Amino acid sequence: MVHKVKGVVARSKGAPVTLETILVPDPGPGEALVDIITSGVCHTDLHYKLGGISDDFPFLLGHEATGVVSAVGPDVTDVAPGDRVVLNWRAVCGNCRACNRGEAQYCFNTHNATQKMTLEDGTELSAALGIGAFIEKTLVAAGQCTKVDPDADAAAIGLLGCGVMAGLGAAINTGGVKRGDSVAVIGCGGVGVAAIAGAALAGATTIVAVDIDAKKLERAKELGATHTVDSSASDPVEKIRELTGGFGADVVIDAVGRPETYKQAFYARDLAGTVVLVGVPTPDMTLELPLLDVFGRGGSLKSSWYGDCLPSRDFPMLISLYKQGKLDLDAFVTERITIDQVEEAFGKMHSGSVLRSVVEL
Ligand SMILES: NC(=O)c1ccc[n+]([C@@H]2O[C@H](COP(=O)([O-])OP(=O)(O)OC[C@H]3O[C@@H](n4cnc5c(N)ncnc54)[C@H](O)[C@@H]3O)[C@@H](O)[C@H]2O)c1
Ligand SMILES: [Zn+2]
Ligand SMILES: [Zn+2]
Repeated sequence: MVHKVKGVVARSKGAPVTLETILVPDPGPGEALVDIITSGVCHTDLHYKLGGISDDFPFLLGHEATGVVSAVGPDVTDVAPGDRVVLNWRAVCGNCRACNRGEAQYCFNTHNATQKMTLEDGTELSAALGIGAFIEKTLVAAGQCTKVDPDADAAAIGLLGCGVMAGLGAAINTGGVKRGDSVAVIGCGGVGVAAIAGAALAGATTIVAVDIDAKKLERAKELGATHTVDSSASDPVEKIRELTGGFGADVVIDAVGRPETYKQAFYARDLAGTVVLVGVPTPDMTLELPLLDVFGRGGSLKSSWYGDCLPSRDFPMLISLYKQGKLDLDAFVTERITIDQVEEAFGKMHSGSVLRSVVEL
């Protein structure tokens, strides 16, 4: 059977998104059909719409979602109809080089659904991050469904499906922030603020939030920043050094992903410190740094895909911390919107007025 549902599509580079009728097939082997409850609007959706990720238009957008499994393929045993799930874009394969050495968080061969969702005329859709969740029902690989506690707010926990997990993981997993560390985070949108929350959770004692938008800095304080720097008004490298005894931070996280913010991160880090790039650059961007500085300053320069998370390990653990009141996921949900308001939500993302708009289906 084919399901006819409404979903949000980016048809061509830069064009406003449209609400389209989409055909979703029943799940085949290894697949699951999921009724979406909520889906957050992430900057990566905007990157897709603007052609910054690939040219495989049309895209079915949305990927930070909570849902309920409604059907599974014949061979699927890990999830069953009725299960509450958060969707992930790291359904690990179990037998690539990374999986074989016990580092499934780096899996090089993650799974998506095999069948395609299409427009009514048969045009195949590219699902954002292999998910596509601004839609009433979506088709994913069964491994993209992480079973979670049904007794937690769907809008809040769904954000673990991408941006909030990426930020938390950039601090906790990739950056390896420890008790007593100093941390600076450049860019305080959903991802950056999550990195601040992650640093706080890990016990960092100095947490510097950097943004060009004063509103974002206010919110960063609420989630654990001990200091803020408006980098439109002053040099963030100097300020971060001042706030860390003149040395720089142990871990600096670039949650913007531009050459200039990366350079700031590079020079705002203490000797032997760590830079984590979690913001996503566009294909035209290049970076120039004196190689002697790369060598001489030591430490490590890391990139963080999805916060180096393992969904089956990290989502339930973080939801448990949320329910214990130790991780404020509610703070990330600025507004709840309907499926026809995604374009407006992109506008608000630009204006800096929201951390996350979450579509309720
Ligand atoms: N690595 C991953 O797995 C992953 C996952 C999700 C999102 N992302 C990426 O993370 C980035 C941030 O996503 P988001 O949803 O938080 O976006 P967002 O638009 O909500 O936030 C971006 C923030 O950066 C600030 N900013 C912009 N230019 C700046 C500059 N020059 N200096 C300082 N601050 C600046 C903005 O004011 C804003 O607060 C995006 O590139 C997104 O694609 C990465
Ligand atoms: Zn693998
Ligand atoms: Zn995302």
